[in-house]
Amino acid sequence: MLMTTQAVTTISQLREAVRSFRAANPGQQVGFVPTMGYLHEGHASLIERARRENGLVVLSIFVNPLQFGPNEDFDKYPRDPERDLRIAAAAGADLVFLPEVAEMYPQPTKTTVSVRDVSSGLCGASRPGHFDGVSTVVTKLFNMVQPDKAYFGLKDAQQVAVIEQMTADLNIPVQIVRCPTMRETDGLAKSSRNVYLSPEERKQAIVLNEALAAAERAIQEGPVTTSQLDALLRTRIQTAPLAEIDYAEIVWYPSIEPVELSSREAAGREVLLALAVKFGRTRLIDNRIVTIPTRQ
Ligand code: PAF
Repeated sequence: MLMTTQAVTTISQLREAVRSFRAANPGQQVGFVPTMGYLHEGHASLIERARRENGLVVLSIFVNPLQFGPNEDFDKYPRDPERDLRIAAAAGADLVFLPEVAEMYPQPTKTTVSVRDVSSGLCGASRPGHFDGVSTVVTKLFNMVQPDKAYFGLKDAQQVAVIEQMTADLNIPVQIVRCPTMRETDGLAKSSRNVYLSPEERKQAIVLNEALAAAERAIQEGPVTTSQLDALLRTRIQTAPLAEIDYAEIVWYPSIEPVELSSREAAGREVLLALAVKFGRTRLIDNRIVTIPTRQ
């Protein structure tokens, strides 16, 4: 642990800080929390967990242009580095890496990391190229920080699956730590994009968590078919007049393959109930990972 939180903006400063920590603290682990900033309690919980489990905690704050489509919110993605640094320090980060785009991509990248299949459904289908952007930047960040453990929130459950597949396939020596979704008191998953919601949209946005809870109950009380669950999710979300469904799907987790719940092999396996719903121009995602009960 460093005495104070240190902010660096270049890759060489970052590498030097990690190198000198490792030299002075042999055997201690480096934990890494990659973010796009505008930190909330969800990010803070990742940093706090990394603090408990490592000698050095590195946080990156970088709004990665590669993972935004041409008509998405890259330019208006919320940014507040000073506030972020305060939250990072309070949660226990030692080293905060805040590179400019030119530091991360000094020239247009000709190399992208692409994870087949796991990346293609859900957000991969509605945001083409998104996961290639995520996999590429996370590979770069892993190469820069060389952490022992990296912490990712399950609110982006497909992202977690993509990163796990990528690190296994490319033999990247890092342990991926899955961390639970943090929620507001009314159940809305914490997200940097929640600030875009109007008061009425914010009120109606709790329908995502409610629909997921109802679908989880239906699975527990089951048996239930995939199409019944699909109908349940959609009907529930449509009770919110401002909600526009991008997708509401049930897939195996972590393979993100289509599920047939009536199959005998379903028992004991994990499914991902995954939602992406727009409120005006704001697209929210949420999910539940549920184990299919074994029935006699
Ligand atoms: O989850 C995020 O904030 C981003 O996708 C990540 C992992 C920091 C890559 O830019």
